[in-house]
Amino acid sequence: MHDAAPQPLTAHRSGPLNGEAQVPGDKSVSHRALILGALSVGRTEVMGLLEGQDVLDTAAAMRAFGATVTRLAEGHWAIDGVGVGGFAEPAGVIDCGNSGTGVRLIMGAMATTPISATFTGDASLSARPMGRVTDPLQLFGAEVTARDGVRLPLTLRGAGDPVPVTYRTPVASAQIKSAVLLAGLNAPGQTVVIEAVPTRDHTERMLRGFGAEITSEAGPDGVTITLTGRPELRPQRVAVPRDPSSAAFPAAAALLVPGSEIRIPGVSRNPTRDGFYTTLTEMGADLTFENDREEGGEPVADLTLRASRLRGVTVPAARAASMIDEYPILAALAATAVGSTHMPGIHELRVKESDRIDAMARGLEACGVRIEETPDSLTVHGMAAVPGGATVASRLDHRIAMSFLILGLASEAPITVDDAGPIATSFPDFLPLMRGLGAQITP
Ligand code: S3P
Repeated sequence: MHDAAPQPLTAHRSGPLNGEAQVPGDKSVSHRALILGALSVGRTEVMGLLEGQDVLDTAAAMRAFGATVTRLAEGHWAIDGVGVGGFAEPAGVIDCGNSGTGVRLIMGAMATTPISATFTGDASLSARPMGRVTDPLQLFGAEVTARDGVRLPLTLRGAGDPVPVTYRTPVASAQIKSAVLLAGLNAPGQTVVIEAVPTRDHTERMLRGFGAEITSEAGPDGVTITLTGRPELRPQRVAVPRDPSSAAFPAAAALLVPGSEIRIPGVSRNPTRDGFYTTLTEMGADLTFENDREEGGEPVADLTLRASRLRGVTVPAARAASMIDEYPILAALAATAVGSTHMPGIHELRVKESDRIDAMARGLEACGVRIEETPDSLTVHGMAAVPGGATVASRLDHRIAMSFLILGLASEAPITVDDAGPIATSFPDFLPLMRGLGAQITP
């Protein structure tokens, strides 16, 4: 899919958006369900799996490592796993496409099994740092051969005689934490991850659900997660909650477009993922969560939003980990708010699918919005009406593409995204879903 021709889309000023938005399954949970299913002995069934390209690439990788992965119906998948330590050496190169989560978690999952695998990805993924994951994996005894800067393609040789590791993550990253925990599954004894700032905890929740012994303890140093190695993972039925990061796009559209009201049922309310919704409330958004319940070990609720005049805020840097993927759409919303929105402590945005600070800053400027940028912050000065009338580069980044299409629904002149193809990595039905709500988005 990475060689596909660019697919430009244009968003036009739209009338009120109304209806129900069935957003796709959570991407983070979907990757983990496939990987833990592959590491269990027996059949795991997953309901509501995200069928975006990122997750399909992880499914293909699990097949390459020896699991049987079957699509039974839409969103309903079965994984017949090979057990902890049971991965076979893949015959070919593992292509993780656009997915940082996919490649980093899979590298962790194979790093303590004595097999070799070569990983590759698209131009975006090949530019992203992998040393943050291969560094701790080498502590287990894995060996890495990579090009300069530890970028893909790289080859990992799993440890034949792994040792357990205690690792303090140098940046707030659920991918680093998860790679270490997945490697710890096939190491004897206890593997410990200490994170100064809590990040999304889907790996811990799901490992517990699959029967691993794992504890999380908050202390003065942050959170200490301790996993006992070599468990027998028991296959599960996993119900994937709807992705709060995908829900953020129709949610933002409802707030931006005057007269709108939309409902988004079954959205994950995992507290390690809810920073965006906290921020929206502080900005004065009219939003409510109802029918709180638990699905598949994760809290979910139904979200309703109505068009709102937002005010600019300062987003506390301490909140960054809980809304790390939502800054692009927040920056788009901030362009229409009364006053300025200051987003400090977001250096990690520079190493996502694109440099998201730069992508949003250049795109907003092109749309006539005033911004200020530092190495680790972005400030957006809101205006009564965003001029728009620009073509913005999506830079192989689904969230940049969706953010500008949403902004275009409320800008004076249309906003074109040069390539909306990457949206298929996380939200394949974005276009029909948004059109169904009344959004004017055209090829
Ligand atoms: C993810 C973790 C985050 C996030 C990504 C998904 C995960 O990345 O940006 O979209 O599923 O663990 P980092 O761990 O690099 O912050």
